[in-house]
Amino acid sequence: MASGPILQVNGIEKAFGGIRAVDRCSLAVLPGSITGLIGPNGAGKSTLFNIIAGLYRPDGGEIWFGDARIDGLPPYEIVRLGLTKTWQIPHELRNLTVLENLVLAAKDNAGEHLLNLFVKPGEVKRDEIRCRARAREVLKLTQLEGLANEHARSLSGGQKKLLELSRALMSDPTLVLLDEPSNTT
Ligand SMILES: Nc1ncnc2c1ncn2[C@@H]1O[C@H](COP(=O)(O)OP(=O)(O)OP(=O)(O)O)[C@@H](O)[C@H]1O
Ligand SMILES: [Mg+2]
Repeated sequence: MASGPILQVNGIEKAFGGIRAVDRCSLAVLPGSITGLIGPNGAGKSTLFNIIAGLYRPDGGEIWFGDARIDGLPPYEIVRLGLTKTWQIPHELRNLTVLENLVLAAKDNAGEHLLNLFVKPGEVKRDEIRCRARAREVLKLTQLEGLANEHARSLSGGQKKLLELSRALMSDPTLVLLDEPSNTT
């Protein structure tokens, strides 16, 4: 990894029709730092996060994650590089348990490919065991361990935020963008 910023946003612009949601935004995040992005409602924070995560395409500007230029890459490739985000409004899968929500968020899981169930059943089983063990570690860290087998729909607003963070950590990210991690309204 380069010794400069881990994330560099240069002159990012995004408009929705006549609304200029992000107007030439530039920022840098240094490795090992906690960086805050503040602004009033509608300032464009979530839009910028969605652009960085590859969910929206910017109208202009560049985004660098370490040595890789990531604007224009699809979200799954950005996650693979080690950058992930949480949603301002949690996106948990309500009818799955907390543990299942985490297992589903793991990357490089052989069981994601239907064919592997038939041609590599051993690898699928090993990956599932590995993902479940990792999920239990993450739940210990985020203190949701006791809720592992509860349906996500039964969690409180604050617990859903912690689940959102837990799901993000399942991809072993280098950088996590937390969109309003403590605001449950
Ligand atoms: N998908 C969209 N389509 C049209 N307009 C949008 C869209 N997403 C955001 N906007 C508009 O872009 C502007 C920035 O919104 P955004 O949600 O990024 O702000 P924010 O800083 O995250 O606000 P908050 O603090 O309320 O979460 C707002 O005027 C919003 O209405
Ligand atoms: Mg927002």
